[in-house]
Amino acid sequence: MLPSQPGSCPTRFSSHHPFHTRWVVPADLARLVAHEGLARVMRDLGDILLADFRRWPQFDKVARVAAHSDDGVIELMPIADGRLHAFKYVNGHPGNGRCGMPTVMAFGGLADVATGFPLLVSEMTIATALRTAVTSALAARALARADARTMAIVGNGAQSEFQALAFHTLSGIRTLRVFDVDPAATDKLCANLADTPGLDVVRAASVADAVAGADIVSLLTADKRRATVLTDAMVEPGMHINAVGGDCPGKTEVAPEVLRRASVFVEYAPQSRIEGEIQQMPADFPVTELWSVFCGAAPGRSDAAQITLFDSVGFALEDFSVLRYLYDACERLDIGERVRLVPELRDPRDLYGALRVDSSAGATAMAVAAAIAGATATAAVT
Ligand SMILES: NC(=O)c1ccc[n+]([C@@H]2O[C@H](COP(=O)([O-])OP(=O)(O)OC[C@H]3O[C@@H](n4cnc5c(N)ncnc54)[C@H](O)[C@@H]3O)[C@@H](O)[C@H]2O)c1
Repeated sequence: MLPSQPGSCPTRFSSHHPFHTRWVVPADLARLVAHEGLARVMRDLGDILLADFRRWPQFDKVARVAAHSDDGVIELMPIADGRLHAFKYVNGHPGNGRCGMPTVMAFGGLADVATGFPLLVSEMTIATALRTAVTSALAARALARADARTMAIVGNGAQSEFQALAFHTLSGIRTLRVFDVDPAATDKLCANLADTPGLDVVRAASVADAVAGADIVSLLTADKRRATVLTDAMVEPGMHINAVGGDCPGKTEVAPEVLRRASVFVEYAPQSRIEGEIQQMPADFPVTELWSVFCGAAPGRSDAAQITLFDSVGFALEDFSVLRYLYDACERLDIGERVRLVPELRDPRDLYGALRVDSSAGATAMAVAAAIAGATATAAVT
């Protein structure tokens, strides 16, 4: 039986097949970047991020839910704007490299608020690197000196190329001074960026050497402790600090003295006070939320000597924006699969009916079941 009043269905996505979910894996994202070009992806994503940050009050916001362990953290990040709902699962395990796994891995989805239907399920390991880097570059456009051309990158792991290219594309960076405690990470970064026109990459001998004379300092290290990668003595007047790696309780990169000297900008203060560099400061330490700068409601940089610091931890709105971008782009270019994630039911209350299989599929299912049963029996006797 069909739903009694199909005309009253509230979904705003009726032009798409209502029972298909777009399924995007890393190879699809690679196809999208190959088709569009990374610079265009970053520019288009930047436009969406700015538009979403500028309508900040429209979002239902909550600090992410974190499950901590000795080795890392697993976080759930939901957000909605009344029309679309987004969520992300993401981890942070700085020791994962020892097992051949990335420090950060993620997936997430986008749903239609009117019906709850899941429109998109996507990989978000690459998408997180993209949205983090583009958000950092947008923040720097508002907070760094307009003549900033040189950036230090300390920590040359998975996020570093994305950050380098977002700053090159969106905020005019022409020279990188790069350092990592593991020279192999710097080798990888230099090799990946070797053919980037208009970008010079210079290897530094230490954190202090990388930072000296830089206009912008990006901190992208991963270490599950209160580290002090950037000390007060290294910071020069007029610098902008893009502090990305301190994003979890007990995990920091910047000396507290630097925070006291700087004007500090955050994504969502209730989350950043728990997770960001400012976890080291009192609960009333003054910060400015980035959205208010993007809206023109709060000043960004006020003079050439001011030290500005973006205390990035990653907020759900950035995931919302990148999922929105991916959904539109993958629908437009038909990238990724359309899968039936939700059972298609003739009568929506006959969920049990979804367990029925047609005769040909049934024969296949029975053959698979028999094979599994046989394998289990064999395993049990050997
Ligand atoms: N703020 C956000 O939105 C956001 C998003 C993604 C990742 N992150 C964080 O960014 C950091 C980097 O992520 P990744 O995926 O590139 O990690 P990664 O493990 O791939 O790379 C981290 C690099 O930092 C280096 N490193 C560690 N300590 C160092 C030190 N004291 N000096 C110099 N180098 C040092 C390591 O050798 C490694 O190469 C992580 O802490 C991650 O949790 C934040």
